[in-house]
Amino acid sequence: MGASNESRGALVVFEGLDRSGKTSQCGKLLSYLEGLGHSVELWRFPDRTTSVGQMISAYLTNKSQLDDHTIHLLFSANRWEKRSMMEAKLKAGTTLIVDRYSYSGVAFSSAKGLDFEWCKAPENGLIAPDLVVYLDIPPEKAAERGGYGGERYEQLEFQKKVAQHYKLLEDSSWKVILCFISCHIAIATRCHG
Ligand code: TMP
Repeated sequence: MGASNESRGALVVFEGLDRSGKTSQCGKLLSYLEGLGHSVELWRFPDRTTSVGQMISAYLTNKSQLDDHTIHLLFSANRWEKRSMMEAKLKAGTTLIVDRYSYSGVAFSSAKGLDFEWCKAPENGLIAPDLVVYLDIPPEKAAERGGYGGERYEQLEFQKKVAQHYKLLEDSSWKVILCFISCHIAIATRCHG
């Protein structure tokens, strides 16, 4: 994974549609790396514990309404407010497994119709991941999973658009895991392979 300094931790990001299984797979990778004796932490965005995160949470749970550009910038600000802590952890040798990052920011907002380049701009300067694991699940399959529909973006037609916009963001740091059968088996195979 792209780190030139051996003592630096790795930044591993999980991305995918709502209910694609990111949270479970992040947890499994955390246990696996801890078992190998690595210093590792699990983070997630949005981080709903900060004051910015609470505004985001109120929006996602339909308790508040915000202009699309405004909520986009809040999601980005939520990453910026954690940037220096992220840098310090990585420099200290801790690997961070992060459930959603800038790719979610751009894919979800541009799927609403916001300009793609405008959506990317506020992410410039955030720490680039060493690895992005994209869990590629058909939107219809994700919609069948428990708890779907509880938050603002969990709507099948919108998630189909998000999937298309994610595809525009794929770069050399991505590993795409096809989740048609079992993400767990696919990821386990790649971890050992
Ligand atoms: P979560 O379910 O992983 O907590 O994510 C909450 C929702 O927020 C999810 O539908 C994806 C969306 N989202 C954005 O629209 N922009 C972002 O920058 C992030 C991190 C999430």
